[in-house]
Amino acid sequence: MKQRALADLTVSAIGLGGMPMSIEGRPDTARSVATIHAALDAGVTVIDTADAYHQHADEVGHNEELIADALRSWGGDATSVLVATKGGHLRPGDGSWTRNGDPAYLKQAARDSAKRLGVDAIGLYQFHRPDPKVPYAESVGALVELLDEGVIVRAGISNATVAQIDEANAVLGGRLVSVQNQFSPAFRSSQGELEHCAGLGIAFLPWSPLGGISNAGELGANHAAFAEVADKHGVSPQQVALAWELSLADVVIPIPGASRPASVQDSVLAADLQLTDDELARLNDN
Ligand SMILES: NC(=O)c1ccc[n+]([C@@H]2O[C@H](COP(=O)([O-])OP(=O)(O)OC[C@H]3O[C@@H](n4cnc5c(N)ncnc54)[C@H](OP(=O)(O)O)[C@@H]3O)[C@@H](O)[C@H]2O)c1
Repeated sequence: MKQRALADLTVSAIGLGGMPMSIEGRPDTARSVATIHAALDAGVTVIDTADAYHQHADEVGHNEELIADALRSWGGDATSVLVATKGGHLRPGDGSWTRNGDPAYLKQAARDSAKRLGVDAIGLYQFHRPDPKVPYAESVGALVELLDEGVIVRAGISNATVAQIDEANAVLGGRLVSVQNQFSPAFRSSQGELEHCAGLGIAFLPWSPLGGISNAGELGANHAAFAEVADKHGVSPQQVALAWELSLADVVIPIPGASRPASVQDSVLAADLQLTDDELARLNDN
């Protein structure tokens, strides 16, 4: 698979998002493990997770543990796989999502994530979502301490504006390596952040790159141009969407979620799908 730079690392151009395997509607463990193994077998070397990817209140870190177990039971060399996790978003168990950007909380959350992932230091730790009750610089300050203490190797942020990207990078002394924002054919309002990351050479990880768990299957039905280009190439509209995202800047690394091996196996082919300039122009306008 084609590769992309993420800080000092080289990772697969298409990653795997772990959320569908741990929240409402998740499959059984055997299917989840098969999905993660399918991604690894296909050459995926970046997997996105979060401590908040769980359903019930008493299973914080469900997805982190699932991924760690799947990496251990995989036959290949798992040391080359970057597991990127996040903290600062919580699920109390009633279906809602809450936030906690308190630095002391984030520092403990990262330590707990490292334990669940079974690593001495987390390869990429991302502040999940700004907490309006805590000054942003204070939350990001926790990442500085985690870096300096060796709990995390690299720091990223998520759901950030251009101003927050600049603020985080300043607080981190230029050590911000990734931004994870929502971006898909249906949701393009992070185009400014994507371009800002491209200018700074910071990786941009589109989340819900296919429109989200409940809309991904309808991507072609909802976006005619993506369906038409897909038909021309004999591929899925989802592959076209991922290839289009990759075309927007070299820093883009989509992390499509999956709960079935077939979804991953289809998505990774986007890395090698060549779209013409005319097709890309059409998709940009659609
Ligand atoms: N930072 C944040 O705030 C935030 C928020 C949301 C998500 N995320 C991250 O971003 C990742 C991706 O987002 P997402 O999972 O919400 O949505 P998504 O990637 O847009 O859609 C996921 C769904 O797409 C389906 N799918 C994947 N590849 C496909 C293909 N080639 N053809 C047809 N269907 C395909 C999967 O179906 P099956 O389940 O049937 O395999 C899956 O349920 C998450 O898993 C999570 O890691 C981050």
